[in-house]
Amino acid sequence: MLILNFNPFPVITTDRLILRQLNKEDAKDLLVLRSNLEVGTYIPRIPYQSTEESITFITKAETWISNNESIVWGIVLKTENKVIGTICIWNIKNRDYRAEVGYELLPDYWRKGIMQEVLASVLDYGFKTMKLHSIAAVISPENTASIKLAEKNRFVKEAHFREDYYDKGIFRDTAIYSLITPE
Ligand SMILES: CC(C)(COP(=O)(O)OP(=O)(O)OC[C@H]1O[C@@H](n2cnc3c(N)ncnc32)[C@H](O)[C@@H]1OP(=O)(O)O)[C@@H](O)C(=O)NCCC(=O)NCCS
Repeated sequence: MLILNFNPFPVITTDRLILRQLNKEDAKDLLVLRSNLEVGTYIPRIPYQSTEESITFITKAETWISNNESIVWGIVLKTENKVIGTICIWNIKNRDYRAEVGYELLPDYWRKGIMQEVLASVLDYGFKTMKLHSIAAVISPENTASIKLAEKNRFVKEAHFREDYYDKGIFRDTAIYSLITPE
């Protein structure tokens, strides 16, 4: 059985970025990110309307982390102290050494290799430190950017569900991608 420990919080540093725990001072940045309609196109959630929703999420995330249930990192550029995205490992099935990865980034920062830098480090953490055996990504087949990112990191498509979720007035397909431990 997989035993996890996110305490103390595992801060990850990459060339350009710091991945750190979200705190209540990030509420405004999280609102900007999660109220953005472009960011949310393929993410099944209602766009945020207030910082209270950010605070609720940040507080829940603190509980998940302290209970070692799942982990969310805020993505911060070393040159700017502001949260421009998030990445999480959640839906953790300890018995199966399996989890899911989720990520989002503000459009101003797209196509600069930022999420590639973040995802590579988080996958390394997931396999080497958390000792996961496989990591899944649940992606809409229309979400070209996310599919490219997943495939670049050697995720393989293993399932396709037709019109299996209803979000913002549209029935959408879902594809499951996964990566098995590189070892
Ligand atoms: C998916 C997302 C995180 C990608 O972040 P990003 O920092 O722009 O991605 P990167 O710059 O690291 O690019 C990674 C690879 O994907 C490719 N890519 C990224 N966006 C692309 C797009 N819109 N169309 C085609 N290819 C794209 C890049 O070219 C790169 O591949 P390459 O090195 O072979 O050229 C970003 O588009 C996003 O936040 N989208 C909204 C939220 C979302 O949909 N999250 C995923 C839910 S499953």
